[in-house]
Amino acid sequence: MNFTFAAIDIGVTLEEKNAMLDEVLSLPDDVHHYNAFRGCKMIAIYNGGGRLGSPVKGIDTQAGKFKYTKAGDLCPTMKKVIEEKMFPWLVPHGRVTILRTAPDTGLNVHLDSQEKEIGTLQYKYRLVLNGAIGKLYFIDEDYNKVYVPDLYDSYVLDGSHAHSIDPDTKEKITICVGAPWHGEPNESYNKMILNAKFKMEVSRPQTKPGWLDPGHKK
Ligand SMILES: [Fe+2]
Repeated sequence: MNFTFAAIDIGVTLEEKNAMLDEVLSLPDDVHHYNAFRGCKMIAIYNGGGRLGSPVKGIDTQAGKFKYTKAGDLCPTMKKVIEEKMFPWLVPHGRVTILRTAPDTGLNVHLDSQEKEIGTLQYKYRLVLNGAIGKLYFIDEDYNKVYVPDLYDSYVLDGSHAHSIDPDTKEKITICVGAPWHGEPNESYNKMILNAKFKMEVSRPQTKPGWLDPGHKK
């Protein structure tokens, strides 16, 4: 499992993608939260309770006690896709969040993990519903941007590798699956990675302090 980015096909149809995009676009304002560190809006879909998806006292996320949020309940197609096409290989089930990045807005370069977690299993799964897919890049050891191919809307990325997206004319809407899922190997997941349509490994840069989320526990 030594890759920075791997395009995997989880079998989501175009109809499902379009239906999920419609569901997201119909969500009310009050389920959105602005994430100042990343520079985008977030919608919690499946989590341990709480608007931001952080575990709440009394809910043991490792024991799979996650549930759908109000927004999640408003997205029936997404729920079906999560259950039928993601849960079978998500061990344990991860938190599901929608990220919405406004047109003409780039994200800040960031790590989705703590610095000490670099090199451990810190994978995230992404399914892009709207916007450009080739604007995602990783920072290499010489601080160059290494872009992913403009081809794959379904992929796993190493969240402990500094990454970001460049601005695009369209709003970017992505379904994101993260902790407690980290890319734990299991039969169906391993098979998808083995059959990945595209895989790449980028050299790691020295971490800059501004890339670390002040909200992450040290
Ligand atoms: Fe990220």
